[in-house]
Amino acid sequence: MQLAGPWVMGPPADRDGAIAVLREAVSRGITHIDTSEAYGPRVTNELIREALHPHPESVQVATKVGANRDAEGGWPTARTPDDLRRQVHSNLESLGVERLDLVNMRMGDATGPQPGSITEAMETLVDLQREGLIAQLGVSNVTAEQVTEARKAAPIVCVQNLYNLANRWDDALIDELAADGIAYVPFFPLGGFTPLQADALTAVATRLAATPMAVALAWLLQRSDNILLIPGTSRVAHLRENIAGAAISLTEHDVAVLDSIGV
Ligand SMILES: NC(=O)c1ccc[n+]([C@@H]2O[C@H](COP(=O)([O-])OP(=O)(O)OC[C@H]3O[C@@H](n4cnc5c(N)ncnc54)[C@H](OP(=O)(O)O)[C@@H]3O)[C@@H](O)[C@H]2O)c1
Repeated sequence: MQLAGPWVMGPPADRDGAIAVLREAVSRGITHIDTSEAYGPRVTNELIREALHPHPESVQVATKVGANRDAEGGWPTARTPDDLRRQVHSNLESLGVERLDLVNMRMGDATGPQPGSITEAMETLVDLQREGLIAQLGVSNVTAEQVTEARKAAPIVCVQNLYNLANRWDDALIDELAADGIAYVPFFPLGGFTPLQADALTAVATRLAATPMAVALAWLLQRSDNILLIPGTSRVAHLRENIAGAAISLTEHDVAVLDSIGV
């Protein structure tokens, strides 16, 4: 999401930098990239295509459907069967692939998950999966009830919701999904539009001679084996700092200090 222009609209200020982030990520062994046709709109998908096409089979490019963009930068809901079909086809076209690796059905809105049935949307995506246009399905910005409902309509491999050191309302859901072998992908892992800042985070980072962002990511990786990360960045320097988080091993004491942030 950070590769498009300000507020995820239009082209990035540093196009070459955005391409460099994607190529550096894959060359350093990152195998999980998150995108959406709504980013730009279309801008991020086209950058991924330019930088990586054809992406190696080991790399999974996850996209999402469920919203369009309007001229003011809003994210109007669009999840009728026709909307979803159109979005899947435009993702295929802008990414330049014959099959999407993973499509998340995004519910909710900019304020977070909203109640409402997800069944019809999942059934449409299952039809598209049967047509060979989608490899795997997931859900995003959902309530725990919608996860349960979605799982009755389709086998899902991941849930992508807002979660980080300071926002932990999905703790129980993460544990349930882990028990069933379903991945949990936190969005805003670094705090999103309001980057994480806390004395406890700075203290642990200082002790480890690491950056606070790398420590925030290390905490997520240690939180549960089913957590897969998608921190957003437009800069190669930040990408490298974030990858360093994967090598950090937090002590029980560090984890207890960091846990205090979310309480
Ligand atoms: N499903 C959904 O509804 C949904 C909603 C939001 C996001 N997402 C997905 O989740 C991904 C992650 O969320 P996000 O990008 O919004 O938020 P994020 O990863 O929590 O934070 C991104 C912000 O942190 C900055 N940053 C990254 N690495 C840093 C570092 N090492 N030091 C200092 N600042 C750093 C980025 O700026 P720089 O560019 O300067 O590094 C950017 O401002 C998105 O890219 C998108 O793919 C999904």
